[in-house]
Amino acid sequence: MFNFTFHNPTKIVFGKGTISELGNLVPPGCKVLMTYGGGSIKRNGVYDQVMEALGACSVTEFGGVEPNPRYETLMKAVEQARAGEVDFLLAVGGGSVLDGTKFIAAAVPYRGGDPWDMVLDHALVTAAVPMGAVLTLPATGSEMNGTAVISHETLQDKRPLKSLLIYPQFSILDPETTYSLPERQVANGIVDTFVHVTEQYLTYDVNAPLQDRQAEAILSTLVEEAPKVKANPNTYDVRANLMWCSTQALNGLIVCGVPSDFATHLIGHELTVFFGLDHGQTLAILHPAVLQHQREHKAQKLIQYAQRVWGVRGLGDEETIDAAIAKTDEFFRSVGVPTKLSDYGIELAACKPIVERFKERGTKMGEHKNIGYREVEEILALCAG
Ligand code: NZQ
Ligand code: ZN
Repeated sequence: MFNFTFHNPTKIVFGKGTISELGNLVPPGCKVLMTYGGGSIKRNGVYDQVMEALGACSVTEFGGVEPNPRYETLMKAVEQARAGEVDFLLAVGGGSVLDGTKFIAAAVPYRGGDPWDMVLDHALVTAAVPMGAVLTLPATGSEMNGTAVISHETLQDKRPLKSLLIYPQFSILDPETTYSLPERQVANGIVDTFVHVTEQYLTYDVNAPLQDRQAEAILSTLVEEAPKVKANPNTYDVRANLMWCSTQALNGLIVCGVPSDFATHLIGHELTVFFGLDHGQTLAILHPAVLQHQREHKAQKLIQYAQRVWGVRGLGDEETIDAAIAKTDEFFRSVGVPTKLSDYGIELAACKPIVERFKERGTKMGEHKNIGYREVEEILALCAG
């Protein structure tokens, strides 16, 4: 096992009716800026619950943070927060609202010029306005991590910002807030959670059986719960299990002491930039192809995954790996997220700018840093359909 430091400062408040605890979680006397997305929280009653719970606080609002939150929009919130001398941020929504708010948190005190520079150089984040969150979409793990993925429309770019200073101080996770999610977002969230786990698990063995089993526990739970949420969307325990899986998948725990991959995520961000696909859709397309491309390097873990998560038995090694990849692809489709570029009307030839971008940047991805632009081209070819 590799050496590691694990420190996660986010307090999780989980369960039915927990939004009412906001009044005790937001520090007293703060000037709060509440951020939200395109209006789902107004339609499903979450906005009213939050406002009621914040009764005694001084609150202003910034709505309109879009999916794949844009720098250009977020900078308007930064101006508003600076002008209003806001000293606490409360994000209410999905991963995009939480990520956008983390960027705002770091940008408000930044005096070094353009806050986008912090996204390019994380060491520039030296202070942040404290923030909390009310999560309404289980998927990204943003509620309990120090990452914000920000899109820059003008530069046609999408990149992660990472800092210890942008962990939420607390996150409220009330599974009932997820009843109003459209099926597409539930499905995206399951795929996102699944791939967060596999990108920290399907690498190579470092003799870390506890982390392996933690990862397998999340994967197996997703496999069990996914058909249930489709059949009976308003079942509390199913929603609760999915929500806790998402948080556990990317809060730093399962990656302790083990290698991680994240090539699927990094290539996926470019599919969003160039074609506007949802984050979960990009992962469903790319992940089976990345596993196929890297099957030799990931062989041992793919076999373990096939056996323990999918119950594959009695096949030779190569057939077991085939089954692992096929089961993964089938699972994403069964959840409702298609897995080929052609399913989204995207021609392989249109992906050329993605390959060019990786060539220009010289990025090397994967747990062995063996995925460069040539491999990206091969992986995209496997996604064509
Ligand atoms: O904007 P509103 O009106 O709120 O609607 C949203 C949005 O249209 C809607 N929604 C959210 N909760 C709802 C709801 N609709 C009805 N009922 C509810 N309870 O869902 C739509 C999508 O929301 P979004 O926040 O964009 O989805 P998600 O949580 O999947 O976030 C995706 C973003 O997170 C980034 C992705 O790249 C993408 O930009 N990621 C962040 C990570 C992190 N911070 O660690 C890691 C991930 O790998 C990921 O990259
Ligand atoms: Zn993700």
